[in-house]
Amino acid sequence: MGIYQQMAQEQLVRGNPADRPRTAGYASRYGRWEELAGVRRKPRRDFTGQDTGELYFPPELYPVVLHPLVAAKGEVVVEALLLRRLYDYLDFTTELENLAVIPVATRISRGRSGLVLPEQMKADAYKIVTDEAWHAQFSHDFARQIEAGTHVARPAPEDTPPPAFVRRLDALREQLPHEVRGIESLLFGIVSETLISGILADIPRDERLPVPVRELVRDHAEDEGRHHVYFRSVLKHLWPALTVRERQAVGPHVPAAVAAFLEPDYEQSAALLRGIGLGREQCAQVVAEAWPEQTLRRTLADAARPLTRYFAEAGALDDPRTRDAFEEAGLWGARPVRAAPGTPQEVAA
Ligand SMILES: [Fe+2]
Ligand SMILES: [Fe+2]
Repeated sequence: MGIYQQMAQEQLVRGNPADRPRTAGYASRYGRWEELAGVRRKPRRDFTGQDTGELYFPPELYPVVLHPLVAAKGEVVVEALLLRRLYDYLDFTTELENLAVIPVATRISRGRSGLVLPEQMKADAYKIVTDEAWHAQFSHDFARQIEAGTHVARPAPEDTPPPAFVRRLDALREQLPHEVRGIESLLFGIVSETLISGILADIPRDERLPVPVRELVRDHAEDEGRHHVYFRSVLKHLWPALTVRERQAVGPHVPAAVAAFLEPDYEQSAALLRGIGLGREQCAQVVAEAWPEQTLRRTLADAARPLTRYFAEAGALDDPRTRDAFEEAGLWGARPVRAAPGTPQEVAA
C-alpha cells in the first residue's frame, strides 16, 4: 500500500475497532465552544516591550537560577536566564501541540483512534485541533515579539534539539511490544492534556511577570480546562476497550509518560548553564541540586494526582505490574501523606 493510503488509515490503537467493547456516554463540554474558545474570543496578546515585569519567568519554577553558583553570576545573568526559560517554555508549548496533541486529536476527529467513539466526541476533537493550532501559533508569535522588544535572540529552532519529552517518548515506545505501539501517543495525550492545566495555573497569578505573558498563559489555561475534561473521557473510553494483554503491556509505562511530560528538561538547562560560563561538572551539580530527587518525586506525584485517580477509577491499577510501576514512581501507595503546613504531623516531621 502506498504511504499516503497507509497514513490515511493508520490508527492509534491497532485492530478492528468494531471488535472492541464500547463505552456509551459522553458529556460534551463544547456546546458553547464558539463563545468560549480563546481563538474565537480572545485578542492576540502582544508583547510591546513596554510591559516588562520584574521577571520573565517564576524562578521557583526554574530553580537552577536560585542555585548559589548561578546567583553568584549576578542579577543580569539570572534575568537573562529567565528570559531564555520563557523562550524555551513557549517553544515547548508549540512543539507539544504540534508533535503530541494535534496528531492525536486529528486521528480521533478522523475516526482513526482505533476505538468506536461517540460522534460528538469526534466532532469535538476538531475543536481541540483548532484550539491547539492557535496555542502553537500565539506562542510562536509571542516569542518573536519578545525577541523584537528585548533584542535578545531566541534560539533558532533548527539549531535546537527537540524538547526532552520527544526523546522520552521514543524511549518509551521502544519498550512496548510492537502490537501495542501507537497507544503510547494516546496515553501521552491523556497525560499531557490532563496535567497541563495544573502547570499553567501559577503563571497568570504571578504579578512579577509582564502582563501580556500572564494573559497569554491565562488564555491557554482556559482552553486547557476543557481539554482536561475531554481527555479524561478519552481514558474512560480507551481503557475498557483494550484487551487485558494490551492493558498489561501499556499500563506499567504510564508513569514514564507522566515523567516524560512533567520532569524538567535537564539537558536544555545544562546547555543554558554552559552558556553562562559554567563548566560541565558545575552544570551537572547545579541541575542535580536544583531538583533533588525526593523533592522532585513529591512535586511530580502532587501534580499527577488527578491523573493517577483517573487511572485508578478506570481500573488500570488492578493490574499488579501497573500498580507496582505507579508505586515505584511514587505516584501511588506508600508515599508519605502530605500534611497541611503548620499541622502537628508536619511539625513532628
Ligand atoms: Fe494547548
Ligand atoms: Fe490542550
